Amino acid sequence: MSVEKRIRIGIIGAGNIGNVHMETIKTLPGAQLAGVTDVYLPLAEKRAKEHQIEKVYANSDQLLGDPSIDAVVIAVSNEWHAPIAVQALEAGKHVLLEKPMAIDLASARLIVEAERKAGKVLMIPHQMRWEAPAIAVKEQVEKGALGQIYHAKATYLRRKGIPGWGTWFTQMDKSGGGPLIDLGVHMLDLSLYLMGNPKPVSVYGATYAEFGPRKQGIGTWGAPNWQGKFDVEDLATALVKFDNGATLSLDVSWAGLLETDNLPSVQLLGTEGGAYLKGSKGKLFAEKFDRIVETEISAPAANDDPRARMIQHFLTAIESSTPPITSVMTGYTNNLILDAIYRSSQSGDEVKLNWDI
Ligand SMILES: NC(=O)c1ccc[n+]([C@@H]2O[C@H](COP(=O)([O-])OP(=O)(O)OC[C@H]3O[C@@H](n4cnc5c(N)ncnc54)[C@H](O)[C@@H]3O)[C@@H](O)[C@H]2O)c1
Repeated sequence: MSVEKRIRIGIIGAGNIGNVHMETIKTLPGAQLAGVTDVYLPLAEKRAKEHQIEKVYANSDQLLGDPSIDAVVIAVSNEWHAPIAVQALEAGKHVLLEKPMAIDLASARLIVEAERKAGKVLMIPHQMRWEAPAIAVKEQVEKGALGQIYHAKATYLRRKGIPGWGTWFTQMDKSGGGPLIDLGVHMLDLSLYLMGNPKPVSVYGATYAEFGPRKQGIGTWGAPNWQGKFDVEDLATALVKFDNGATLSLDVSWAGLLETDNLPSVQLLGTEGGAYLKGSKGKLFAEKFDRIVETEISAPAANDDPRARMIQHFLTAIESSTPPITSVMTGYTNNLILDAIYRSSQSGDEVKLNWDI
């Protein structure tokens, strides 16, 4: 597809992250912001004005029914991910579907089935994979510089960061969970990718809700709704085991009495090298001269735009009919692990993953 034939994209969900996608898409020559909708229509109208979007649709049915739309961005609350994604795929649209792919495992299966039938591109926009230090570490992993990666440690610990207390974020039936499904899904996705996508086989996990139920630990992201409720966890911890013998330890929180907020970080421990990603910084380690030597990965250029790289990858996947690196199956794998962590937390036992799909 030439640059003249721009991919016409419709946005479903004009909230925080929908807006971030609109900002990025309008910078890309191969894409056209062609339409927007939101259940709160005034917001869609506002975004259309801000981003000069051709058309506001009254609802997602109308947007999906328009044959001139090639692809959609789905950036709505988690409960609507599967219903809208399945409908979009059945309508022949390519789909950029926000994380978590689905609110639960049963819904994730529906998306996998719909994607297989439709043969369209479905990508999950995990922007951490597209940050320059993560790309540098992945290159070293692929060259074998770390040897066999036998353990990884991923953390994203906020001390006072509950988003929108009482909104959909903190209601189980609308979000599917707290920091585990919100932040943990990014950390799982990035860790598995950097580890070389080993197959997860079992999970032990525990979740806690110590601050949210007491209306403590409230962050600045999203306005609280005090008429709402908080029935999700505010901290989760897990150990994931893989078929190659490797393990991943995961710790995420929205709230906790920590010394400081911890930026998202992933540590990789390999037989020949180690890597540490934290925020937008990265380091590599190896043993040399009887010492551990450290190499800092150069900071990204000031105008580096990981989100533009990510959306361009979506456009290229559509143009070349190739699966994106964050495909429906990586989304499913993440949902499978999340589901097992929640089940392990309830039962107190290790959960073996069932890969029948
Ligand atoms: N990739 C990331 O880093 C990242 C960051 C934030 C949020 N997210 C994900 O993006 C999604 C949206 O999060 P947000 O922070 O933008 O939330 P938000 O509440 O700011 O926006 C969601 C929007 O979707 C609209 N909406 C809800 N149901 C709808 C429906 N059926 N049809 C049309 N519009 C509908 C709401 O009115 C709202 O404007 C969530 O799944 C979240 O997990 C991802």
